[in-house]
Amino acid sequence: MKSFFQRYTPLQIAMHVYAWSALIHITFRLLTGNISPNPIQELEQRTGRHAVTLLVLSLACTPLNNLFGWRELIKRRRALGLYAFMYATIHVIIFLDLDYGLAWSLIVQTILEKPYILVGMISFLMLIPLAFTSFGIWKARLKKNWKRIHQTIYLIAPLVILHYAWGKKGDFFRLQGEIIRPLIYGLVVLVLLIFRIPQVRRALASFRDRILLLLSRRRIQPEL
Ligand code: HEM
Repeated sequence: MKSFFQRYTPLQIAMHVYAWSALIHITFRLLTGNISPNPIQELEQRTGRHAVTLLVLSLACTPLNNLFGWRELIKRRRALGLYAFMYATIHVIIFLDLDYGLAWSLIVQTILEKPYILVGMISFLMLIPLAFTSFGIWKARLKKNWKRIHQTIYLIAPLVILHYAWGKKGDFFRLQGEIIRPLIYGLVVLVLLIFRIPQVRRALASFRDRILLLLSRRRIQPEL
């Protein structure tokens, strides 16, 4: 029988540990009563942030593989996306149930009054088909449409960042208030999206090949 470390790669272990860390941390704080005076807000914010981080990590897998040739990242992309969806679902349940007590008329009113909630809802609804069709069986069934559905992530990610930034108090143009964190996430998403442009991708691949060639020459030289 294979040992634990033969079965799982270090990256796989790190990914699962990181993904579960927020839930474990939240549970621990709830059990020990060590939670902020506004626990619902804290839970909402924590799950929202973890969801967006996991989403960005899943988005980073392909560009990082293109850049460094780290093929294992491609295998981790789906799990990261599903973990992001899991936290987004918990985030939404906290909002609907704990925050608004399933008072649907109030929920609809809030969605209509606060544009950042509307944007969050749109991005969540768009995430649902991605999560459900992320399995191999759907890839085979949907063929070309699978790629089309999953390309909506390039729209969802900026929407999620907009939801994040819009809900914060601060001055976006003066870089004041609570805007710095969402701004950093936004810049990372922007860079990742730029990396997907075919011309940029080709330029990066040729840059990587040149670096690898240079390194292999250096390794060979001392033997000459
Ligand atoms: C129906 C959909 C959604 C609703 C109703 C919703 C609701 C909310 C609310 C009420 C807040 C503000 C919490 C506070 O500061 O008091 C918030 C913040 C946030 N949400 Fe959502 N959200 C939705 C979807 C999403 C999705 C899909 C993601 C990510 C994948 C997400 C990520 C975030 C983030 C990162 C924050 C900011 C956390 C912070 O302040 O540090 N939300 N959301």
